[in-house]
Amino acid sequence: MATITFANTKGGAGKTTVALILAAELAQRGHRVALFDSDPQQWITRWHGLGATPANLTLVSNVNEATIELEVKALKKKADYILIDVTGGVTPLLAKAIGLSDRVMIPVQGCAMDAVGGAQVLDILKALDKECAIHIPHSVVLTRINSIITTRALMAVKALLAEQRVQVLDTALIERAAYRDMFVTGGTLYSMDPLRVSNLDKAQDNARLFGDEVISLVPLKVAKPRAAKTETAKNGTAKAEKKTKVAANKPETAKRKVA
Ligand SMILES: Nc1ncnc2c1ncn2[C@@H]1O[C@H](COP(=O)(O)OP(=O)(O)OP(=O)(O)O)[C@@H](O)[C@H]1O
Ligand SMILES: [Mg+2]
Repeated sequence: MATITFANTKGGAGKTTVALILAAELAQRGHRVALFDSDPQQWITRWHGLGATPANLTLVSNVNEATIELEVKALKKKADYILIDVTGGVTPLLAKAIGLSDRVMIPVQGCAMDAVGGAQVLDILKALDKECAIHIPHSVVLTRINSIITTRALMAVKALLAEQRVQVLDTALIERAAYRDMFVTGGTLYSMDPLRVSNLDKAQDNARLFGDEVISLVPLKVAKPRAAKTETAKNGTAKAEKKTKVAANKPETAKRKVA
């Protein structure tokens, strides 16, 4: 199980949209996904209410700072990915969600205000690292990018992030009607009608690349198969070999150190 929080203290940065695109993409690939909605406006819960949600995508509504830890625990064995959508602002829930995560995704639009919101999230991550020895890997995902023009504002955001040595995902999410329409039609990019939604194929391609990159950054922690355990018990060399393999495959998320 891997947990990812979508955070930017600035409202309207694209957190909910990015979370839903990724949840749908992971579900499309057969992963069991739990999508946490902590927004009082309940955009994801409303989307879910429209129907056509993949069977392997579970919605968890009304998540708050008092319940989030138990909800994550409860889904540990039932979900491959837990995706947490938090609201804007610096809140106790934000800090808790970040602390429970294997990676934090910070959606940033091509404008300076979002970069400021993103910087506040980075401050929380730094404080967790310094004060609690919790280091959470994090990446900025650029959103609502114009597919043709690389704007000055976007260049400014990229420069600011590079200065802070923040990792930016190679895949930016393009401004697409399909990403907005999901919240109106319900369902996913794969259940929408291509005759009604413009450039649906391009939105799907974009989401697939995004999914590929996230999966490579946040791989699933695979439990040791039973057969391998028996083999290991029989043979000490095999044990050493497996240890090396596990170390080689260890996701970056395993670097998290909890005091
Ligand atoms: N890639 C995109 N293409 C088109 N529209 C987008 C894209 N990303 C976000 N939007 C639109 O931008 C607006 C804000 O996005 P969203 O609701 O995801 O932000 P948010 O960070 O979750 O906001 P809040 O802080 O209020 O929860 C929405 O109207 C959404 O449809
Ligand atoms: Mg939101």
